[in-house]
Amino acid sequence: MAISHIITELTNYNMKQTILEICYLIGSVTFIMGLKMMGNAKTARKGNMVGAVGMTIAIFGTIFLHDGDVSGMIYGLIFGAIALGTIIGWMTAKKVQMTKMPELVSMFNGMGGACAALISLIEFNHYYHAEYPKVLMGAALTGEYHPPYGFLLAIFAGLVIGSISFSGSVIAYLKLNGTMNKPVRLPAYNIINLVVLIATLGFMAFLVYTGGVMLVGGQLVSYFIYVLLALAIVYGVLFTIPIGGADMPVVISLLNSFTGLAAAFGGFLYDNKVMLTGGILVGSAGTLLTVIMCKAMNRSLGSVIFGAFGAGATAAAGPDVTGSIKDMGVSDLAVLMNYSKKVVIVPGYGLAVAQAQHVIHELELLLEERGVEVKYAIHPVAGRMPGHMNVLLAESNVSYDKLVEMDDINPEFEQTDVVLIVGANDVVNPAAKSDPSSPIYGMPILEVDRAKNVIVNKRSMNAGYAGIDNLLFYDPKCSMFFGDAKKALTELVAELKTME
Ligand code: TAP
Repeated sequence: MAISHIITELTNYNMKQTILEICYLIGSVTFIMGLKMMGNAKTARKGNMVGAVGMTIAIFGTIFLHDGDVSGMIYGLIFGAIALGTIIGWMTAKKVQMTKMPELVSMFNGMGGACAALISLIEFNHYYHAEYPKVLMGAALTGEYHPPYGFLLAIFAGLVIGSISFSGSVIAYLKLNGTMNKPVRLPAYNIINLVVLIATLGFMAFLVYTGGVMLVGGQLVSYFIYVLLALAIVYGVLFTIPIGGADMPVVISLLNSFTGLAAAFGGFLYDNKVMLTGGILVGSAGTLLTVIMCKAMNRSLGSVIFGAFGAGATAAAGPDVTGSIKDMGVSDLAVLMNYSKKVVIVPGYGLAVAQAQHVIHELELLLEERGVEVKYAIHPVAGRMPGHMNVLLAESNVSYDKLVEMDDINPEFEQTDVVLIVGANDVVNPAAKSDPSSPIYGMPILEVDRAKNVIVNKRSMNAGYAGIDNLLFYDPKCSMFFGDAKKALTELVAELKTME
């Protein structure tokens, strides 16, 4: 077949459409494969790449193969925006510290919500200009014409959900970076929030009913969509401000699922399969993660959204602490570990803050050289984001098989000689099991007090995220090994090296 014929074929509309559909299929399949691969630490990085490549194919397919003419100027704008977004995204992600990751995720999520809301606004205005002359002729007023209900519902739902996700994520970002460090609770905030939510949904239903336009002073106007936008933004703020810092990651994950849903509505609008698939997957993954986090923190979603638990992050009273603590020096600890058969390390937020992941790996290798069995106990909400400890330890090449999930390691503590807790606090707090008045009561914990010896490395007696004291530190089996994790573990490694 002559090349010129192939080119003619390729430029043929049907052929272009077919190729575009194939691009979307690749985008959808790779997105699903990527998500699946992200479920395992070994394949997560590759999964991210697979999803990104598929999405790039879908985006470039849309730009070059979509139906309709695009001028050079529009291409300039599109690629200018892509370049700008890529540079900002790349630089921010490169620079961000691991401990600041939840903030970054909430900001990126907010941008996704804003995009979904903007798509709705733009599409509504397109429609208004392209279709509404018919209405202006009076057809709407006589009931002869109404824009398709499904179309309007997709526009307004995308606008409302995307805007809530945007403003909620901005508040979540400000809370996580400490700018808004106290939950703001208006009097009867739950009732106010409910009223604003009902007003938003009611007004949305009304706009769907009226076709998005209304008669004002004898004129048909379409600007009421901006009232809906304002209501949704206000609701996003009101929804997030009363929630405390400790619950923020759950809220971010929930807002993430909202963004997915808003993008899925965009997929309906454009009849775009990849947008629909991507949106639904993000929506359901966000919902699942929300449920998993709630379970791991023993919180119901209702109590996260409507409850006052978040206040506990800074103001919880905690248990009545009496008794004394024991302090252990580096040489005693080195001897204890050197002569142990089995050591379990419990990493927590402090390990990430101190960036002690490399030295902890060195400690593990050193102990193993001496015949000590070493494992890491991973609590699902240790640190400040899902998978935080896994990512941190993977950075220092700790073997994945050594990371043992909470439910699997708990029965092993009884046969453990030494548990070394590094920068963890709430995830080993026995109050979660024994004190019904504790804000963390019911949260599953690592049951380290079953081990023969418990050593806690942290800098002081300060509380962790939940803001409460930890009775474990006063347990006769427990000794404190004070100091910054990196410095203290470096000293421990040096001491161990001097021993045969
Ligand atoms: P936390 O309970 O927050 O305790 C961390 C401890 O690390 C602090 O008590 C602190 O004590 C110590 N620390 C800080 N910097 C240190 C350093 N440089 N060297 C040594 N120690 C240091 O951490 P956790 O046990 O990992 O529990 C996580 C908490 O965060 C839970 O309450 C969880 O619900 C919450 N949370 C988790 C997530 C997810 S998804 N992971 C999301 C939101 C909230 P000192 O100041 O005395 O050193």
